[in-house]
Amino acid sequence: MKIETKPKILVVDNKIDTRDFIKKILEKNHYEVLISSSGEDALTILECSDQIALILLNVMTPGLDGFEFMSILKHSPKMKQAKVIVLTAVGEEQIIVKASEAGVADYLCKPFTKWELLARVKNQVMLRQTKNELEYCNRKNIKLHQKARQEIIECKRITSKLEEKREILTHQVVELTADLKVANKELAQTARLKDGFLASMSHELRTPLNAILGISEGMLEEIGGPLTDKQRKSLISIEESGRQLLSLVNNILDVSRIEAGKMYLDIGPVFVESVCQSSLRLIKQPAQKKQIKVFSHVDNIANIVQADNRRLKQILSNMLSNAVKFTPENGKIGLEIVGDPEKRMIHFTVWDTGIGISLEQLSQLFKPFVQLDSRLSREYSGTGLGLVLTQRIAEMHGGSVSVESKVGQGSRFTVSLPWHEE
Ligand SMILES: Nc1ncnc2c1ncn2[C@@H]1O[C@H](COP(=O)(O)OP(=O)(O)OP(=O)(O)O)[C@@H](O)[C@H]1O
Ligand SMILES: [Mg+2]
Repeated sequence: MKIETKPKILVVDNKIDTRDFIKKILEKNHYEVLISSSGEDALTILECSDQIALILLNVMTPGLDGFEFMSILKHSPKMKQAKVIVLTAVGEEQIIVKASEAGVADYLCKPFTKWELLARVKNQVMLRQTKNELEYCNRKNIKLHQKARQEIIECKRITSKLEEKREILTHQVVELTADLKVANKELAQTARLKDGFLASMSHELRTPLNAILGISEGMLEEIGGPLTDKQRKSLISIEESGRQLLSLVNNILDVSRIEAGKMYLDIGPVFVESVCQSSLRLIKQPAQKKQIKVFSHVDNIANIVQADNRRLKQILSNMLSNAVKFTPENGKIGLEIVGDPEKRMIHFTVWDTGIGISLEQLSQLFKPFVQLDSRLSREYSGTGLGLVLTQRIAEMHGGSVSVESKVGQGSRFTVSLPWHEE
């Protein structure tokens, strides 16, 4: 809240009538008036009071001469701000000239009217107020300027610190990049060694395995002569183990190919019905062995999909073989293919009425080499790589895998692939 103070006026005149006349008019018009009858007295008042806005001075006041009074004012740091209006009488023009040389602000010639007095006083008071306000703004500006300068100095200091830090970081980045380059080189070399090792391993393992499988198949067809029951049983077991081993080698190779970014899809038009039938054929025997009923349904709009035929068959056979593996005897499994023309997706679902998967176990699926700990998992061979490959291959096609399952009731695995026929 701004407190309005009345401007203070000091009247210096030896004539009591003049003093009273001025005092009465000014007080009525909201000025605070101090009066003095001599120059000496006026100086004492000025010394003791603050903020005298204006002095009305009769230079002819006895005692201290008006001009001496003004000279004292001029040389006093405290009082030199006070503005002076001299009071003169007709015929005292030479005083006005002298007074204006001495630096007075204005003059009033007696007899003056109330309006003249008020107008002159108001003028000087306003001038002084404006001057004060200007000085105040100036002081404020100087302070702001100083603050801005300090802020600029602080900014410069921070910038130079940041620059130092940036240089240190650049240096560190250069060093780290050099280290990384060395590490990368070593990694690339290791990866090359690993790829080479896997390639030769696969060759070394697959060649004898194919020989074992070929020979045992031939013997089972009795090319080398009739077999006894015992010999047939042993040969069947040799063939089964050989196939498991071959699938293990193939799966491990596929996973490392994907991880090295070296599995490439051979995309082309795939006849959905035909890839389903050939995948179903692979599980026909094991399903029959467990008296599991196999259902299949292909949506009549889902005819052709753009995919890698061999990899799609790998996905379907893994899901189907899992369904057979994890469904007890006399259960049911099924393959359903549904096309969603709106979302341009095709869904391959394999369902079963098997052992199901608990919620905690669901989070473990799709991790390499994970076989959920169940009696059936332990009973059946497998590497725990089938679902990992299913997921990765589906993703390489731009698709995904989802699972719904209830323990003891069965599971539904769905692979969804983008569906464009051409
Ligand atoms: N239909 C299913 N019902 C119940 N559990 C399943 C089913 N499918 C997969 N699982 C669980 O998920 C695990 C991982 O399956 P995945 O196909 O990856 O491996 P696997 O079949 O054990 O071995 P692989 O497929 O490499 O021969 C299985 O071991 C099994 O515990
Ligand atoms: Mg499997």
